[in-house]
Amino acid sequence: MDEKFDLADMPGNFGIAHVRWPSTGIASKINAHPHLDENDTIAVVHNGTLKNYDELKGELIAEGFKFKSTTDTEVISHLIRKYMNEGFDLEHAFRKTIERLEGSYAIVVISKEENNKIFATRYQSPLKIGISDDAYFVSSDIPAIINYTRQIILPAEGEMIILDENGVRVHDENDNELEKEIVLIPWTAQMAEKGDYPYYMIKEILKQPDAVEFTLGERDNIQKIIDDLGKIKNICFVACGTSYHASLTGKYLIQHLAKIKTDVVLASEFKYTADTLDEDTLVVFISQSGETLDSMNALRIAKETSPTLAIVNNIGSSMTEEAKYTIITQAGPEKGVTATKTYIAQLTAIYLFAGLLAKDYELVDRLYNVPDYIREVLDKSKEIEILSQRYSFADDLFYLGRGFSYPIALEGALKLKEISLIHAEGYASGELKHGPLALINYTIPVIVILPPGSDYEDTMVNLEEVKARKAIILSVCAEGDAKGECKSRDVITINPKVDEILAPLVYTVPLQLLAYYVTLEKGHNPDKPENLAKVITV
Ligand code: AGP
Repeated sequence: MDEKFDLADMPGNFGIAHVRWPSTGIASKINAHPHLDENDTIAVVHNGTLKNYDELKGELIAEGFKFKSTTDTEVISHLIRKYMNEGFDLEHAFRKTIERLEGSYAIVVISKEENNKIFATRYQSPLKIGISDDAYFVSSDIPAIINYTRQIILPAEGEMIILDENGVRVHDENDNELEKEIVLIPWTAQMAEKGDYPYYMIKEILKQPDAVEFTLGERDNIQKIIDDLGKIKNICFVACGTSYHASLTGKYLIQHLAKIKTDVVLASEFKYTADTLDEDTLVVFISQSGETLDSMNALRIAKETSPTLAIVNNIGSSMTEEAKYTIITQAGPEKGVTATKTYIAQLTAIYLFAGLLAKDYELVDRLYNVPDYIREVLDKSKEIEILSQRYSFADDLFYLGRGFSYPIALEGALKLKEISLIHAEGYASGELKHGPLALINYTIPVIVILPPGSDYEDTMVNLEEVKARKAIILSVCAEGDAKGECKSRDVITINPKVDEILAPLVYTVPLQLLAYYVTLEKGHNPDKPENLAKVITV
């Protein structure tokens, strides 16, 4: 965009917009939404991906329609025009268009020919309606509208939403008007505002003690779910990205504490596991948004055979509607694209679940100290900011951890690469010698996660291996760990009461801060990494 508009300065009282890159076609002005018909009277925004757009485009071109963009979305505006030319009104032309679409979509449509009306519908993509005293909103995400309203309607797939001067109506596929419940979201506008913080990311990192405390309040709910589940033979976690790293911690914890065989599967690879599921396997979906398409697709498959549990942060999200059981993590709205407080809240819910499942009440009691341990790390922000100046020069970094610290290494590397745009690899420290050790030299910083516990000595051996190759070592270790401190160039120290089992909840935090400050050093915006979206619904 060359120009920026302030909504308040724009004429009119209704409008549509889309603030993400197109999923089909390059990120360019011509591919940016909304997409118009040839007469420039119908405007469409679309979230999702159309599988049959090539075929539809061919058909429309053969009929004389001229395309401007290379997106899949543009077929929607031309199809609506085609049906309006055939005599249908906007709503029915839109309905006929939807019948032709294959793939996922949340679509919002307006037209000059039927002024002051907005139509919207969804299929396998999220869409929420917000209601305030003086406006209505249609959005793919609740955090996007929470500054304006907490009253939300959750449309089901295939329902048609009509907004006009008479208010909001929701119709089913056969045009019958539906009575929809209005859900009150327990988040406040203030929770979703940046306030005095320079970026959402730092606000969200600093709010992590609260995220843990509030999520610990879910203990009774989690106990009820465990009681209702009865005996479980196997557990399978399914997730993507950061939520996958939380799941990996869940696997280690549950196997260690409850001795239940647990798998972790990337949602996008789930179809190769689906056939092994049965009614004795609990399938656990971890997702901050509750909307990630890969995870949603897997959930729809898993629920056919197995009990499902969704651990999500966004109330009213699609996963909460589809899973048998739901645990809501209490991180509040997260606006930064990179997940921070929702991750620590996911971990808190997973630790509670694993501890209660294993009846390890000592571990559960220790969780109540975690907010203070995190606060101690946050007090070291200045120190980490200074350290970041040394590490922002790197082109490649390795993050090493063993056992419970392996997912910490993966998450630390993901945080850094997605916002600072520096290449970083998280590795199981024992695996390094099976190949990547060849890359280590004096230009490569290696971040070693070194909490006290049974894996300490083995990780130290791996630290020595990279040290022998002159790597620049930054260790995250316990205060008073003389060996860790003297073997490393730099250290970030953590309360020694945090052992390897609790480490994911606390040792991750300095790595988030490091990623944040390195990103600022590099001159990037940590809240909005290029080409990444907060919710991946394609
Ligand atoms: C996190 O920082 C990422 N941007 C991303 O990996 C994210 O965790 C992933 O897309 C899964 O999202 P979800 O938790 O909303 O399902």
